[in-house]
Formats: sequence, C-alpha cells, structure tokens
Amino acid sequence: MTQRAWWRDAVIYQVYPRSWADADGDGIGDLPGVTARLGHLTWLGVDALWLSPFYTSPQRDAGYDVSDYRDVDPRFGTLADFDTLLARAHELGLRVIVDLVPNHTSSDHPWFQEAVNSAPDSPERSRYLFRDGRGPNGDEPPNNWTSTFGGPGWTRITEPDGRPGQWYLHLFDVSQPDLDWTNPDVRDELESVLRFWLDRGVDGFRIDVAHGLVKTDGLPDAHAPHGFLTDPTDQSPMWDQPGVHDVYRRWRQVTEEYSRLGEDPGGGAGPWAANDRDRILCAEAWVKPAGALARYVRGDELHQSFNFEFLMTPWLAQDLRNTITETLTAAEDVGAPQTWVLSNHDVVRHATRLGYAQTPGLKQPRGIGAGDPQPDAALGLRRARAATTVMLALPGSAYLYQGEELGLPEATRLPDDVRQDPTWERSNHTEHGRDGCRVPMPWEGSTPSLGFGPGPKAWLPQPPEYGALAVDRQRGVQGSTLELYRELLSLRRELRLGAGSLTWYDAGSDDVLAFTTSAADGSAVLVLANLGSSPVRLPNGARVLAASSPDVTAEQGVPIDTAVWAEIDHRD
Ligand code: NOJ
Repeated sequence: MTQRAWWRDAVIYQVYPRSWADADGDGIGDLPGVTARLGHLTWLGVDALWLSPFYTSPQRDAGYDVSDYRDVDPRFGTLADFDTLLARAHELGLRVIVDLVPNHTSSDHPWFQEAVNSAPDSPERSRYLFRDGRGPNGDEPPNNWTSTFGGPGWTRITEPDGRPGQWYLHLFDVSQPDLDWTNPDVRDELESVLRFWLDRGVDGFRIDVAHGLVKTDGLPDAHAPHGFLTDPTDQSPMWDQPGVHDVYRRWRQVTEEYSRLGEDPGGGAGPWAANDRDRILCAEAWVKPAGALARYVRGDELHQSFNFEFLMTPWLAQDLRNTITETLTAAEDVGAPQTWVLSNHDVVRHATRLGYAQTPGLKQPRGIGAGDPQPDAALGLRRARAATTVMLALPGSAYLYQGEELGLPEATRLPDDVRQDPTWERSNHTEHGRDGCRVPMPWEGSTPSLGFGPGPKAWLPQPPEYGALAVDRQRGVQGSTLELYRELLSLRRELRLGAGSLTWYDAGSDDVLAFTTSAADGSAVLVLANLGSSPVRLPNGARVLAASSPDVTAEQGVPIDTAVWAEIDHRD
C-alpha cells in the first residue's frame, strides 16, 4: 500500500515569531524563544509549525518586507538560532515551514536601492515595476491601482539627478515595492532563496501573496475596486493571472528534487522515514471561487492553498455547508487535499469574529477599535470552540494560529498610538488593522508580560483578560479551551479523521450542520454542530467522543452553538 503523504492531513500551527516567546527580554519574540517553547506544540499534538517571516527587515510590515532573504533579522536572532530551532523541532517530530515573500521586497533591499540610484531604463530598475507617470508632467500615477493597505498603489521617486522621476508599484505598503516577475533575474533569485532554506533542511514554504506575482501585461487600469479577495468577475489585472502557475510548476520541481533526497541535508533527519520527507508549498492566495483556487494545487503545482472562503463564511449552517461542499469538490477535482483555517495574523481572531451577529454575506471586520461595537465575548468563545470542533473533523489539513488554542479574543481596545500595522495610517485611520490579533502570547497568568518574556516588555500591550487565559491557567484544567484542542487533536490523530471522507447527514433541521466521516477503523463518526435556536437530540445510541462545551447530555442533547463528535452505528 502506498503511504499517504504527511501533508495531506497535517495540522500545522502558525507561530508569529514577534509575538510567541521572547527569550532576550527586548519585548519582541525571537527564534530562541520559539525553540524554548516547542514543547507546547508536541504537548498540544500538532504535526508542524509555520513560522511567519524572521528575515532581515526594517519591519514596516512586521517582516513581510524583506531586505535580506538569506539571513535572520537581529531582532529575532541569528542563522545559528534558526538551525538550532530546526534541529530541535525535527528531534521532537515537528516539521517546520517557513514563509517566502516573493511578490515584493523591502525598499531597503539592495536591489531596490540599486534601482532608485540607476537610470530609468537600466537593468537594475527592471527588477521592479517602475513606469513613467501619466499627465503632462508625469505627475499622475501610471494607472488607478490602489494599495491593499489603503491609498495609491504607486509612489513617485526622485531621480538621482534630483528631478521628479518614475513611479514604482507597491500593492502593499510604500516600503514594499512589487518585483517584476517577467524578469528572469527575479525568477532565478527567488528559486535560489528556496534552495537556500531547503538546503538548511526546512520542510516547506508558505507563499505570501501567491496570487499576485504576475500582473496583466501593460498594467491596464482596474475596472472594479480590487479588494484582496478577488472574484474572477472582477478581472483584477493584478491578481490571479494565469502566468503565476508557471512559477509554481517550477517550484514544485525544486521541492520534488529535495523530497527525493529523503534525509535532511541539514537540520537533523527527524524521526521520519526517507520516503516521508516531502517538502511542501502552500499558497496564500485570496482567490474565489474554489475552482479558481484549486488551479494552484493541480498535481504539478503547489501542495496546498489556504481556504480563506471557509474563514470568511459566517456562522450559518447553510453557508458553511455550501463552502465545505464547494471546497471538497474543487480540491477533489484536482486530487489535492483540502485545507481549513479559522484564524491567522491578518484577520480578526475567530473567538471575536463570531461574537457578532452572523448574517448571510457578512463582511468580516478589518480590525476593531475601542470606539467600535464590541463583540459578545462569551458567545464568540462558545462558537469559536464549536467552529474548531467542526474544522478539526473535516478531511484534509488544518492550520491553527497561535493563541487560538487558548480561546484568545482579539485585543479590541488597543490604544491607537501603539498600533503598528501600516493599514492604520494608510487608511487614514479608517481601518484599525491587524495589531489586535498579533498581541504577544500569554504563557503564565501572573508574571509581567504574562510569561511572554523574562521581563515586563511586550511590543503590544496584552489586554487584561489574557491573564486568565494563559497556558498555565488552562493546562490540566478540564473543559478549558486548551484541553479541548488537545483532546480534539489527539482523537483526530487516533481516528485519522483528516484522512476520512465526508457524507452529509440529515439531522432534521437546516440550522444543524451535520456530517459523518470515516474513522481509521472503518466506523463512522458523526460531527454535528447546532447553529439553530433550540437544543438538538443526537441519534439513538450515539456515544459522544468530544464536545465543544461540557453541557452536552443525552437528555438535553446538543445545546445551541455547540458541536460534538459522536460514534454512531454505521447503519444509522
Ligand atoms: C500577506 C501577509 O499575510 C500579510 O501579513 C502581509 O501584510 C501581506 N501579505 C503583504 O506581504
């Protein structure tokens, strides 16, 4: 029997290095901090970690603005610290995925510095998207594209001779100039960066803005507002262009070369068999519908892509059924595993998102400030636990974001003067941005910085409610969110639910999301979430294996906003 590749049903935990653990006490998390806390991940029971960028960077977009792709920023440590982290993770049986940022560099990158100091038609400029401006004096941007963080997508430079000059494209912050992927130098350089980290022994890459690398020839005006989650009907000239797939076909070949090598060239071999050493690529591609997204994971392209549609779906049974069905079908059509994710460093944490009224077509918030309507925290947590219980039973691979295992809410009352996300300034203070989901982790309930670092410093203030949610306050506490995650992960592994196959189950109400999935021993597990307004009974003979809330009983059934896993008779 051929072995199922590890990534097809892996649970991958996102570590946001600035906010996970701070070993040197400067208030910013670092790689030695990550290494010191890896035990949390093995205890929790995940398969891999994904590290957000720790590369040399001026940190104008928290590291997604890279100035040296082959080194560690001194704030986070050194290359030797990275090697230690990788070797320790492998010893513990954890695979390590790193972030690759190929759409743009930092404006501090030597290439960009060379570009602005060279002539308009020089090879140095041709690595980026420099264009002459429109209008009589070239003082209007070359097209109408805007930045995802707000404001124009173009900035004008001053030429070396002091005259107002060309404009460069930045789909994100002004400090993140877009690379020109039609230039072979760019393709070669990023392939060489891939190889650099593969040679060190990493197990894969999460590819930032994977749908943005290639732009429509001639950079025509956009006809529709071009948000981040694109729809093919928008025909956005900057997102999801067919040419990106050539890049990924090439990268797949590169990772296959390393997968065939088996043992790590660096970083310790880990406990895996040589034929279980696939190196993987996962796309961050905000592309709709599921069929368009599935093109990124065709057999000769990437292994996975984040399923943001699931994350954006409101807590409504019919909407979730539709999203799950579309996801399963699209992925199956190309033979790829599905992925599921509810939180990450760019979105409002799901324990908070779900604390607001849920309506069809709900637009998810882009940050929350103290003056905004505040969520119902208890409701949000209850639903978040139920949503995770559903997610971890779905076939495929799942991504967790640090702190969600504690039920952490978004920090919704951060003082505006501590905000660091460029979105806040670039949107003229109309969008609060992403700082609220990036607040440092609480490890200990009663120490300064809640155990994040040895002293009191934390780069963003931790809200008062984080203390009671700290790891040491929940570990070993029956019914805590942390213990729920651990229990779900352990059962998921034991029953091999990630490798299961889903069949919708009629629970007698449209407001109930219910399906069965096959467990390793061939038995059926019923997954049932009650999104309605009254309790729901479980089928006769059902034996509850796990529940998102402790108040599930045979008599009361499954209360509102609760999900269960139950063993049922196969013939039911
Ligand atoms: C997506 C990343 O997840 C986000 O944090 C970043 O700001 C943008 N890409 C730009 O790199």
